Amino acid sequence: MEKKSSKDKDSQELPKVPVPPLKQTLDMYLKCVQHLVKEEQFKKTKTIVEKFGAPGGSGEFLQKKLQERRDKTTNWVYDYWLEDMYLNNRLALPVNSSPVMVFPKQTFRDHKDALRFATRLIIGVLQYKDLIDARELPVDFARGQLAGTPMCMEQYNRLFTSYRYPGLKTDTLKVHMNTASPEPEHIIVACKNQFFVLDVVTNKEQLKEAEIFSQLERILKMAENPGDKVPAFGLLTSDGRTEWAQARDVLTKDPTNRDSLALIESCLCLVCLDEPSGLDPSDTNRALLMLHGGGRDRNGANRWYDKSMQFVVGMDGVCGVVCEHSPFEGIVLVQCSEFLMKYIIGSPSKMATSASIKPLPPPRRLLWKCNPQLQGLLKASGDRIQRLVNNLDMDVFKFSVYGKEFIKKQKMSPDAYIQVALQLAFYKCNKRLVSTYESASIRRFQEGRVDNIRSATAEALAFVKSMTDEKTTLSDVEKMKRLREAISAQTNYTIAAITGMAIDNHLLGLLRISKDLNMEKPEIFCDETYLSSNQFILSTSQVPTTVEMFCCYGPVVPNGYGACYNPQSDHIIFCVSSFRESTETSSAVFAKALKEGLLEIRDLCNRSSAAVSKPAESGPGAAQPRKSGK
Ligand code: COA
Repeated sequence: MEKKSSKDKDSQELPKVPVPPLKQTLDMYLKCVQHLVKEEQFKKTKTIVEKFGAPGGSGEFLQKKLQERRDKTTNWVYDYWLEDMYLNNRLALPVNSSPVMVFPKQTFRDHKDALRFATRLIIGVLQYKDLIDARELPVDFARGQLAGTPMCMEQYNRLFTSYRYPGLKTDTLKVHMNTASPEPEHIIVACKNQFFVLDVVTNKEQLKEAEIFSQLERILKMAENPGDKVPAFGLLTSDGRTEWAQARDVLTKDPTNRDSLALIESCLCLVCLDEPSGLDPSDTNRALLMLHGGGRDRNGANRWYDKSMQFVVGMDGVCGVVCEHSPFEGIVLVQCSEFLMKYIIGSPSKMATSASIKPLPPPRRLLWKCNPQLQGLLKASGDRIQRLVNNLDMDVFKFSVYGKEFIKKQKMSPDAYIQVALQLAFYKCNKRLVSTYESASIRRFQEGRVDNIRSATAEALAFVKSMTDEKTTLSDVEKMKRLREAISAQTNYTIAAITGMAIDNHLLGLLRISKDLNMEKPEIFCDETYLSSNQFILSTSQVPTTVEMFCCYGPVVPNGYGACYNPQSDHIIFCVSSFRESTETSSAVFAKALKEGLLEIRDLCNRSSAAVSKPAESGPGAAQPRKSGK
């Protein structure tokens, strides 16, 4: 079948993100929080919610205003969501916000091998950008639940055109959308904490593979001899957003610094040639090195976190991508990374065949002016990234006992099943469930990004209790029934979310529009329940890949977990993160509980199907209901 390109798709307009009915959202909100808060607190919340949703109440008014906003805009929630999720967040980008893709460990015999890899990566980036600009990328179609609908391709346009400027109160995401630009294009190469401009397209002509390679070799040499000591200004971008905004104000007072910043801000992407870290290149260590570069003493300053795509090529073969999250979702990052990996590995090198190499001007080293004030700021940023490095507790593991195929054979959604297993793991560790975030794509709609599947459902709670507190008192039949109910609740929530009927975006919209209208903040949004329901102690995401690589990220709250998973047919890769400074979390403990839980659920499924397929043989075995407590 002929693949549709995004150019063809432009004519078939996608629907706008809907505004769900108010009552539906409020009912769903109460259902989501009832079992997560104390009874007294819930009673209070219920009264507040009912008042908000009453005929003639503020909810009705705000809903009308939101519907008007929907009519007037392409996507009513986009700006609200972008600000709330990213731009207003003051936390440092590494670990807290920027997800990373970790490539398989590469074997480089020497620096030339590493530079060959980097060269092919750059050629791949240029080819991919050409496809985006020409709108020739094949349109993504939804898979899994409600498969087959076309997805909005707009996020791809922001891959190489975005820059996130730090602000004192809020950041600004700038996107240069002039496609097929006749302007020269450049990449910034970071090497030994210095930044170099590599012109890759001049006079509409792209550098050949051998030319890029030779320019990279020159950069490597130039980086060896920095002349004066170069300030490691990349560290400033790893700081909290307000701190970086303040430092940037100081930095830009000098015209040399302004020129250097302008070149970084207008580049296509960064390629970070990293020094060997000296660490064992395990999955966990490679994940850590992508997330924070190993801090000040390793490659933490060899980055520029505001830029949306940073490709890391370590001389020791530790490679991957660091992505500033505000312009696009992980799924787009995966598509791009897979294209590049296939290109690097799969297409023949043109290095030997490219005839003469043009004599090119040497790449330019970016110059900086430092002063004692900036020195002080740099020291403070360095100290803070170091604290983040020491704080991050990461556990990446491959669960190889089974994968998606086993789950599908149970006639269950693999994603819902894994979510229920994550709930079980959390309950095993904490004896309670907490507000959970699972990202659900809403790219079925114009400019759609994501909404939240609140996976800590009441049905999940009932199931996890049956596997723990009530383990010995309940029968397998009852446990299996609860498992099916939990999976069905999760699947239904997923379908609601991907069709624009989840509650988080809607509630945010109601809150933000009340602010736009200068209204007093409605009580529902000041309520303790609302505030705690937005503290996502468990922040999860499915990021599947078809090429060997994995995605990971950090927790979003100090006492929380990040849990990213990549389900494959016969195994699942999990990346669990948490902070060491929290006494409530431990990635290793969570990972252990998760593995145990996955085995216990499998055993339950196996016992249940054995009982179903051999009813005549069933005696007083494990699948039989046991009398409660006796
Ligand atoms: N019985 C048998 N098979 C089933 C099944 C069932 N009851 N339910 C689902 N399946 C199959 C599906 O058909 C699908 O098959 P495929 O592998 O051949 O495509 C597969 O199982 C996976 O489906 P499922 O596990 O239900 O998940 P999904 O692919 O629909 O994903 C979300 C669900 C929420 C993850 C997805 O909709 C989404 O939004 N993804 C984006 C997440 C995101 O944004 N991540 C990045 C954040 S930065």
